[in-house]
Order: sequence, then C-alpha cells, then structure tokens
Amino acid sequence: MKKRGLLICVEGLDGCGKTTQAKILVRKLRRIGYNAVYTAEPTSGKIGRFIKRYCLHGGKRVSNIVEALLFAADRYEHVATEIIPALKDGKIVVSDRYLYSSLAYQGAAGLNLDWIRRINEHVISPNLAIFLDVEPNTVIKRLKPKKSVMENLETQRKVREVYLKFVENGELVRVNGNRSKREVAKEILSTILNFLEGG
Ligand SMILES: Nc1ncnc2c1ncn2[C@@H]1O[C@H](COP(=O)(O)OP(=O)(O)O)[C@@H](O)[C@H]1O
Ligand SMILES: [Mg+2]
Repeated sequence: MKKRGLLICVEGLDGCGKTTQAKILVRKLRRIGYNAVYTAEPTSGKIGRFIKRYCLHGGKRVSNIVEALLFAADRYEHVATEIIPALKDGKIVVSDRYLYSSLAYQGAAGLNLDWIRRINEHVISPNLAIFLDVEPNTVIKRLKPKKSVMENLETQRKVREVYLKFVENGELVRVNGNRSKREVAKEILSTILNFLEGG
C-alpha cells in the first residue's frame, strides 16, 4: 500500500456529480494501490444530522448565521474525529464537500466570506480542492425529483459565482463536469495523479 496522507475535497453545486465522482475516485485510487477513503459533509454525526434536518429541506429553518456556525461545528468534528486520524494513517481522504461549500453557499446567502473563514480557522486546509463545474440549468434538471431549499436556479447561479472566485484565485481547481461521468472521472484522476507525482 502506498502511504501518503492527503486531503482532497470535491466541491460544486447540488447535483453536479460530487458523490458520484468522489466515490469513483476512491475506487480508482484504491485500485492503483493508494489507501483512499470517502467521507462527506454534512457528516452523519450529531451535528451533521441536525443540519440535514433543519438546514437543508425547508420547513423551520435556522438563520444564515446559525447555519454557518453549525456547518463549521460539524466540520470541526469531522476533521478531529475522522480526517486527522485517517491522514495520520497515511490515507488519502476524499471529502464530498468541505470548507468551500460553506464559503460558497453561506457567502451566496450574503454572509461575509472573511467571517466564514474565521469561524472555520480550526479546520485543516485541503491539499487539493476540486470544483466540479456544471451549468446551473443542468443541475436543476438532474435534481428535479429531490429538490432541497438550496436548489433554485437563482441560488445555484450565485453559489457558482462564489466558487468561480476561488478558481480565479487558485484555491480551487476547476473540472468541467458537463460531460459523461466517465470523462469527468478520468480528468479528476489525472489531476490528482499529477498532484501526487508533482508534490
Ligand atoms: N456527468 C454526469 N452526467 C449526467 N448525469 C450525472 C453525471 N454525474 C452525475 N449524474 C447524475 O446526477 C445526479 C446527481 O449526482 P450526484 O453525484 O448525487 O451529485 P451531487 O453529489 O453533486 O449532488 C445523479 O442522478 C447522478 O447519477
Ligand atoms: Mg451528493
């Protein structure tokens, strides 16, 4: 088994293919000898379950600020209890959403990006952050049967704009997700292998 602690996150709009691609990536990395693990946010821990119940699916929602704090709290637990131990074991951790989801979604909702970063300052930075970019119109179509409150077109556009700012400043690597699952998977794997070989 090749040992290399590394944190990769896959970011993007709801329905852009993050879960699909993060899972394919883990399978492919394992096949070539890396000890890779899949993980996701919101987590399945106490705070993550609370978020899924009160922040994502309509009904009685909490305020934006409380929402941002909850995501930061869930992430802190995620990092402390799952990510750091896995990295110490030399694993490649692939996180389906991470810090940039808070910046993009809560930022698009009007919160200050510096404040969101501050409340997340205890989490570790990813080694590589992928933005899986898909047209907002396309994700709306893919998601039709299971829309969450975050998923109207206007919101998706705003969220994408914030993500693209992080592509511009080099924090996120953009992968064009408007292609077949197989083509997207191929590009993500080669991006990661380049990174592993280069750094
Ligand atoms: N490249 C793609 N082309 C077409 N449909 C896709 C593609 N990637 C994923 N999908 C489909 O879109 C839906 C959302 O994918 P999913 O991986 O759950 O997205 P996310 O985790 O980003 O919300 C699923 O039904 C999935 O099968
Ligand atoms: Mg998903």
